[in-house]
Amino acid sequence: MKALITGISGFVGSHLAEYLLETTDWKVAGTVFGPYKNIAGLCDRLELYPAELSRLDVVTFVLELTQPDVIFHLAGQPLVAASRQDPWGTLETNIHTQLNILEGVLRVNPACRVLVVGSSEEYGLVSPQDLPIDEETPLRPLSAYAVSKVAQDLLGLQYYLTHRLPVVRVRPFNHIGPRQRVGFVASDFASQIAAAELGLQPPLIEVGNLAARRDFSDVRDVVRAYVLLITAGEPGQVYNVGSGESHSIQEMLDILLSMSRVQIEVRQDPGRMRPSEVPEVVCDATRIRERTGWRTTIPFRQSLEDVLEYWRAEMSEKLRAADVDDPVSRTM
Ligand code: GDD
Repeated sequence: MKALITGISGFVGSHLAEYLLETTDWKVAGTVFGPYKNIAGLCDRLELYPAELSRLDVVTFVLELTQPDVIFHLAGQPLVAASRQDPWGTLETNIHTQLNILEGVLRVNPACRVLVVGSSEEYGLVSPQDLPIDEETPLRPLSAYAVSKVAQDLLGLQYYLTHRLPVVRVRPFNHIGPRQRVGFVASDFASQIAAAELGLQPPLIEVGNLAARRDFSDVRDVVRAYVLLITAGEPGQVYNVGSGESHSIQEMLDILLSMSRVQIEVRQDPGRMRPSEVPEVVCDATRIRERTGWRTTIPFRQSLEDVLEYWRAEMSEKLRAADVDDPVSRTM
């Protein structure tokens, strides 16, 4: 078996590559965009291609070179907030690359299984009666990011219906873990705490809406779900991926603050509040559980501890780099 992971050096891509190398004998190839840092320790075991996925000729070239049996298409613009600043940029990136992957597979190897990654954001405006959210819940997207994910999801369905491509679609709910960048809530909080612990910023943390409740899974559980589904998922079908429990953002903040080595003040930043937000999101993961037996295994608190440890290491590195650049002012 050979897997191709688009966006292999990203947050989810790097965890997926690690998981495949640890638990299978599959060959693993990936397309890279941006820094290699997340996969630095794996590079000699991977086949890597810097590739511009918005070009169909590049995508088909990579598919011809790599000849994968399965594709995990993870590359894309992942931030809901960024899609408010640049809605077209998000729509163009996410839809165009998805289309090129499907079209490329159709041209090069229509037997290749493709995992199309949507989002729980596709469900958008859900009311308390809709909870927990199963796959039949209507799609009422609330951002351009969410619309881009609906489009990716439906392109996957269309290529299955029209061409019988073996496409499996997923709608992951929030996931967190080491290597997630700032812009996502757990990393936003943990990076500020780690910076405050080292004196890189005042002991103050800026937060957005703390009342929202979301269904958080650990990224290492999520990549396990993706591997189970690419092998055992029903082509054409769509699967929610989530824990089935919600946690408030306040609870996340409290847990992280309880792990902090310094006393930290909390301040609400109006810039972090979102214009339209649903109060609670909870996943109904019955379909994936019945098909594959998957369920989450890593407790919320453990994920948060690992996120904070990751940011402590990142901030220490930043401090060391600052010392090397300017040793005099650091000692003053
Ligand atoms: N990012 C961020 N930063 N969010 C905050 C903050 C903050 O300082 N304070 C409160 N929040 C709240 C947001 O308002 C939101 O309700 C919740 O924390 C989670 O925000 P994010 O981590 O930014 O995730 P998201 O829900 O917008 O999107 C993520 O999950 C989707 C799946 O549901 C992303 O991973 C998407 O790519 C993914 O599709």
